[in-house]
Amino acid sequence: MIVIMNASCSDSDIENVFAFLHKHHLEGHLSRGIERTVIGVLGSPVPAGYAGIAGSIDSTIEDTLIGLAGVEDVFRVSKPYKLASREFHPENTVIEISAACVDSGTVKIGGEDVVMMAGPCTVETEAQLMTAAQAVREAGAVILRGGAFKPSTSPYGFRGMGEEGLKLLTKARDEFGMAIVTEVLTPADVALVSEYADILQIGTRNMQNYMLLDEVGRGSKPIMLKRGMSATLEEWLLAAEYILAQGNPHVMLCERGIRTFEKATRNTMDISAIPLVKKLSHLPIIADPSQGTGRRDIVGAMSLAAIASGVDGLLIEVHPNPEEALKDGAQSLRIEQFQDLMPQAVMVAQACNRQFI
Ligand code: E4P
Ligand code: PEP
Repeated sequence: MIVIMNASCSDSDIENVFAFLHKHHLEGHLSRGIERTVIGVLGSPVPAGYAGIAGSIDSTIEDTLIGLAGVEDVFRVSKPYKLASREFHPENTVIEISAACVDSGTVKIGGEDVVMMAGPCTVETEAQLMTAAQAVREAGAVILRGGAFKPSTSPYGFRGMGEEGLKLLTKARDEFGMAIVTEVLTPADVALVSEYADILQIGTRNMQNYMLLDEVGRGSKPIMLKRGMSATLEEWLLAAEYILAQGNPHVMLCERGIRTFEKATRNTMDISAIPLVKKLSHLPIIADPSQGTGRRDIVGAMSLAAIASGVDGLLIEVHPNPEEALKDGAQSLRIEQFQDLMPQAVMVAQACNRQFI
């Protein structure tokens, strides 16, 4: 259920609504927008011995809420996710990340501008990371990607450099002023990865790892939640809801392709998800055309399509020498390809009345 407060409501009106919700063992999440203040109401567990209407939102509660001072309207949310829905939060969520390489010192994700995140799939060596970081920064990227803890289908595949890789990422951040996005694989690693990363990436394989979602939700680091490779939009937004429900509002989504019958690409890049998610949710959306295709020859085309479809950012794999990459070489752009793509991306963004940060 969503409670819409009227434009002139006071702080004590809001407190009063919260007190009413608590009395009925319901949880309220406040969202103060420029135009509207909204309270999302979530059911909470019924305490032992409580015989009343705890945790369930019935019409008596709805009727009483609508009569409280400052309340303009009350309505039920049709979607199973509430905090992630645009009904709860009509304005776009904008996530601010510090990055010394931009004049303002802050990159805003989900606002007017489009953000380029690029770098190697995996941190392999200092030379490989620094070369890639310098090249993508000079071409226009403001966020550096690179995996230190890597998921691998085969137990014999490279699993990443671990903390050594995180240290190299921070070295690149110090040198080039870029913010860092890197994957965290387990709840036990969240504290460690948070010490180094500006954005924690939850990979496709972990989209429904609820313990991990809860853990990153208890923190305040921005999260990039990739779409599960077989997840519907509803399942994906419910996964985002886990993080939001724990109190972390800084969630962005990343479309990275889904499994279909088609074998010509590694995954099928679901471009339609981009405008649909924008309608359903207020959360920023990023596109990863590298995982989305698995083929460097079409990463550029999918990047441009994603910008035209309204993404807030791109996540692109770039390697100084893809033939020698320890992971995902086939989908990693060569540095020259990334340099060629960037001006095209800028032009498509401009045609859509946007620009790259
Ligand atoms: C991402 O970089 C993953 O680690 C990589 O795509 C996994 O590939 P795999 O499933 O072939 O191990
Ligand atoms: C990645 O971007 O490094 C990655 C592992 O991606 P995904 O989870 O989308 O496969």
